[in-house]
Amino acid sequence: MKRIYENILKTSENRLTPRSYYIPDGKSQYILLNGIWDFAYYKRDLDVPEKIEFSDKIKVPSCWQNEGYENPNYANVNYPFPVDPPFVPDENSCGVYNRVFDIDDLWGRVYFVFEGVSSCGFLYINGKYVGFTQGSHLQAEFDITDFVKKGQNTVTVKVLKWCVGSYLEDQDEFRCNGIFRDVYILQRPIDHIRDIEIIPNDKYFDIKLDGEANIEIYDGDELLYSATSKDRVVYKPDNPILWNAEKPYLYTVKIEKNGEIISLKCGLRDIKISDSYALLINGQSVKLHGVNHHETHPKNGWYQSDEELKKDLLIMKELNINCIRTSHYPPTPKFMNMCDELGFYVVLETDIETHGFLRRYPNVEYAFDVESPDWPCSNPEWEYEHIERMQRALEPFKNNVSIFMWSTGNESGHGINHKKMIDWIKSRDSSRLIHAEDASRKGEIHNADVYSRMYIPLSSLKEIAENDEIDMPVFLCEYSHAMGNGPGDVWDYNKLFYKYDKLIGGCIWEWSDHTVIIDGVQKYGGDFDGELTNDDNFCCDGMVFSDRSLKAGSLEVKAAYQPITTDFSDGTLTITNRFDFTNLNECTLVLSSEIDGKVIHQKKLSLDLAPHKETKVLIDKENIKCRYGAFLNVSLVKNGCVIASTQHKLDCEFIKQENKEKFKEFTEDSERIYINGDNFNYVFSKIYGGFESIKINGKEQISAVPIISSRRAYTDNEKYMRNYWNNINIWQGENIDKQFSKIYNVNVNDGNIIVEGSLAGVSRLPYFRYTISYSISKGGEISVSLKGKIRQDTIWLPRLGFEFVLPNISNKFMYFGSGPYESYCDMCHASKVGLYESTTDNEYVNYIRPQEHGNHIKTKFVKIGDLEFKTDEEFEFSALNYGIEALEMATHTDELVKDGYVHLRIDYKNSGMGSNSCGPALAECYRLSEKDISFDFSILPINL
Ligand code: GAL
Ligand code: MG
Repeated sequence: MKRIYENILKTSENRLTPRSYYIPDGKSQYILLNGIWDFAYYKRDLDVPEKIEFSDKIKVPSCWQNEGYENPNYANVNYPFPVDPPFVPDENSCGVYNRVFDIDDLWGRVYFVFEGVSSCGFLYINGKYVGFTQGSHLQAEFDITDFVKKGQNTVTVKVLKWCVGSYLEDQDEFRCNGIFRDVYILQRPIDHIRDIEIIPNDKYFDIKLDGEANIEIYDGDELLYSATSKDRVVYKPDNPILWNAEKPYLYTVKIEKNGEIISLKCGLRDIKISDSYALLINGQSVKLHGVNHHETHPKNGWYQSDEELKKDLLIMKELNINCIRTSHYPPTPKFMNMCDELGFYVVLETDIETHGFLRRYPNVEYAFDVESPDWPCSNPEWEYEHIERMQRALEPFKNNVSIFMWSTGNESGHGINHKKMIDWIKSRDSSRLIHAEDASRKGEIHNADVYSRMYIPLSSLKEIAENDEIDMPVFLCEYSHAMGNGPGDVWDYNKLFYKYDKLIGGCIWEWSDHTVIIDGVQKYGGDFDGELTNDDNFCCDGMVFSDRSLKAGSLEVKAAYQPITTDFSDGTLTITNRFDFTNLNECTLVLSSEIDGKVIHQKKLSLDLAPHKETKVLIDKENIKCRYGAFLNVSLVKNGCVIASTQHKLDCEFIKQENKEKFKEFTEDSERIYINGDNFNYVFSKIYGGFESIKINGKEQISAVPIISSRRAYTDNEKYMRNYWNNINIWQGENIDKQFSKIYNVNVNDGNIIVEGSLAGVSRLPYFRYTISYSISKGGEISVSLKGKIRQDTIWLPRLGFEFVLPNISNKFMYFGSGPYESYCDMCHASKVGLYESTTDNEYVNYIRPQEHGNHIKTKFVKIGDLEFKTDEEFEFSALNYGIEALEMATHTDELVKDGYVHLRIDYKNSGMGSNSCGPALAECYRLSEKDISFDFSILPINL
């Protein structure tokens, strides 16, 4: 028995051919059916119209997993069902939707449109079967003229969880079902235009219609052109204003026929590839500062309202993003119009991913064996559906000026069916580029237009850029995996993009975390009963949180994508305008000199600087004396917002601190050394090799003996450095989190307490042997000098430094260092060195899976409680409500409980964040891999 939904050769019934997207106006009626529908949910498919008891209600659009029917299931590569195409499991749940709608007057033709139904829908009007569609994210339109009557009508839609199309929809996300996008009826004149083609170019409007209509073209309110056309009009405006992502100029084309008006916003622009394989938009070489966008919402699954979609785009604009890949399916159509209006270069991808085929056998390697006819991309039976899905992506959006590249899908191998899709695109729209995600995976020759790769290391990217055999632009369809605390590598990628014409940029993976919020807690894969396969928190990999709030990684992206670069040497500031179409005189450049955190001069400039040009500004030389540092801060302000900022060190003379007289009157017993000065009393433990009490004016300042350690709480980007085995959490075998601290000797010598010690992971050789010398001044300042050696064959460390536990006297603190955001050596371009105040609450970053956070690099001092920690060099620190262990153990934010202490780290260094959760291993230059350690800082009472 071949059911229609298990037949790859028949994936629709009575669905109309795809057409350009528009909502007609004028005489035509648009009846939006979003709202509350009757609903019945069944475990298995059933015949409709059977007598169905609609005892439930459901809102539309929605995903039934988010409305209490079935638990959510997050799956990445694995299909959540056996790989047995074209068949799907018999236990295939079924949602039946039902509602009434009114047709006031019976006239014209009536259409029913789904913008998204997953996985497939059977449409019934007044109890009669109209047709069938699959292709979840592709528009489906049916002619229901012969099914409707005047007055009240009933629509019934049967939706199945799975169908043969599900094999083509193996995208990495929560798997959702239902009518999840707008659904509506259009009532239109009998004789109307159906398809409109205005494929953009840079010279004229080339309008093709499937019928005669009145056409008007407007520039704002000004009517430029008006005519009645049969099926084609070419109109060339004088001196047209071209569209680009920075200045998204749009004209209006109005098409009127029989009282129906269709208004489209249209732009003119040109796309070319230069001889050196740069991407040229209107002749200007453009770098793509992109991001991959999924439609995802913590309460509504795949449904985002228009306002929410617009909010995404506005935040992207704020973050200097100029490019979007609609991963991995066409977006809600209105989103594309917003992209035209707000200005983005869009890679429009069709709804195809068959990633799960590489896991169809047990225990095989991760291999794209696409030569096998199992793969839909190589099997002729699947050819039609591949091409049709491309048609259904291209036809609705062909007029959107923002789309510069079509994409044949994601992670589906590259086979004959892709080649045919590409041939079809070329025959249909030769104006845009073509992206085929897997085409370049094996380096084979292909007929797409860009060499596309994901997550390759910088070194390989450089090789590709220099390899003349690769004679096409190189596009990173995914890079800088933004999971958890990160990404730390986006800056360096972008530096490289600017070095080679051929590297046209790429899209960060990905825009937002995907979560399901339950009782205020964000849940992910594995949190739900019945998930037969899941991929844990791999869905929490957005550069913004699922409520679209920002993290340091978001601001790092903003910095890497910012429209200026600056360089400062010999008193000269060189500014490069990285805008492609904007003169810097549209912005204000603010230069401010800061000494020890105080602004001493500020200057505002308006620079007449054309795109891609550089200029020099002389900065007055001054004799600066400072204690902590002097900086030149540069920021670029547009419409009241800081869109770019950089910082440079200014030459300065550091005010020398006088040498302080040593306090030597220690008393000792077998276990402790006592240091009792004026208003301070310290006790040093000979057993633990550290202070067990630091009292200032009788008040205790520490709650435990400080320890030296190298671990930090799990970060998603360090997962490959760890391996959960036997409950031992291994740092590449060094077991640094099952640490033993050995104290060999504690001696007092000429007012110095000298500690010799080592650190070792359980079952391992010591990895760090050190000597620390502590001396105390008469005023109570403790100078700490750590010298040590890391074992030669020890792998790089996550960090190295001191962990202090402080009583929570005051969780407020002040520091001079990199802030106000958390910063790591490779994720530091949004923060600036300066003087900041913060609190431990404020330092908390709500990573979905709790992890390391809150570090500040380049710190000179931090004042907390009655203590100041300071250094003449620089240290890194964090001051949090949670210790490493607590952060490590918690898998969700609600498992974190404050323990009433302040956990302060004074670190020699931290390794960077990178993006190794899916991206390449952390670059060597950001690893703490030195073997000789020398670290000096001091602790002094501040309220004596
Ligand atoms: C890529 C894939 C994305 C996503 C990402 C990991 O391989 O194309 O869809 O799964 O990895 O987050
Ligand atoms: Mg995938």
